[in-house]
Amino acid sequence: MSKKVSIDWAKLSFAYTKTDLRYVSMWKDGAWDQGKLVEDNMISISEASTAIHYGQQCFEGLKAYRTPNGDIQLFRPDENAKRLNRSCRRVMMPEMPIEKFIDACMQVVKANEDYVPPYGTGATLYLRPYVIGVGHNLGVRPAPEFMFGIFAVPVGPYFKGGMAPVNFTIADMDRAAPYGTGAAKVGGNYAGSLLPHEEAVKRGFADCIYLDPATHTKIEEVGAANFFGITKDHKFVTPVSPSILPSITKYSLMYLAENHLNLTVEERACHVDALDEFVEAGACGTAAVITPIGGIEYKGKLHVFHSETEVGPVTKKLYDTLVGIQFGEIEAPEGWIYKVK
Ligand code: PLP
Ligand code: COI
Repeated sequence: MSKKVSIDWAKLSFAYTKTDLRYVSMWKDGAWDQGKLVEDNMISISEASTAIHYGQQCFEGLKAYRTPNGDIQLFRPDENAKRLNRSCRRVMMPEMPIEKFIDACMQVVKANEDYVPPYGTGATLYLRPYVIGVGHNLGVRPAPEFMFGIFAVPVGPYFKGGMAPVNFTIADMDRAAPYGTGAAKVGGNYAGSLLPHEEAVKRGFADCIYLDPATHTKIEEVGAANFFGITKDHKFVTPVSPSILPSITKYSLMYLAENHLNLTVEERACHVDALDEFVEAGACGTAAVITPIGGIEYKGKLHVFHSETEVGPVTKKLYDTLVGIQFGEIEAPEGWIYKVK
């Protein structure tokens, strides 16, 4: 294992590294082609592609994990396939059959096996599937052709420090509109988040928190991750809204909170002026895993949950359970793990 790549796995951050092979499949005349692995990490598309002008594209993010015995496994790739297809429907792109999506993930992981970080380093191989509208087109309409791709990158923590608590500030700007594309994983939502993110970071925060775009009173997203809070009376609470990206990590945590930690789970409004109902809070997602929220700045005041330096006990237990399942140390609920063979 890892003979030909020399990477300091423990020092990896969430940054791009070129790996050996990536998967590409093209859609034309109503059908996807067979798809293949290619070496070239550059793509050549029409200057008039809808992906470039009208944001007709979407993407996904999932990880391959090395288990204690050296096997490699994926965490719930079927859920990423389903979400990709929901995003595709929202921006009028062709769907990708779930089996083809999972097979492509497997092919990319196997082809880049040397880049799957060793067990115990905490690092993983991040897979980035995407669909983009390509082909010559000028008017605002769906593209005549589409491209599906997946590339793989070995990564470490998304937020500096991994499981160390970080602080967030509340954004004035929105990433999505009330009936817009917030629930789809489309690039436009992320373009809209670049400026508020940059402003938050300049002011010393890890990222910003978005409120519901209609009333600006309820928490929606924590940067590119979902929000959860733990109440004094042992409830796992997470916001519900049509403009939140439905996080696969979040829905997995809701299951684990109820079935492994015996917490009551509530998906409901989390009012930004009622933060003291939570004794712990966190951000969750594929890249963020679980990042404990130390404090949230709102209207010039920092509201601290458990601690700015220490992880709360429930957050820690949720993290250990989730990550234990992902790395194959803890038995997973049926259907969550796909072995790469
Ligand atoms: N929210 C946003 C805006 C995201 O980009 C992501 C990342 O995919 C998430 C939440 C977390 O979703 P998941 O747990 O499926 O990775
Ligand atoms: C993910 O967690 O997979 C994301 O997509 C978050 C971010 C890197 C865009």
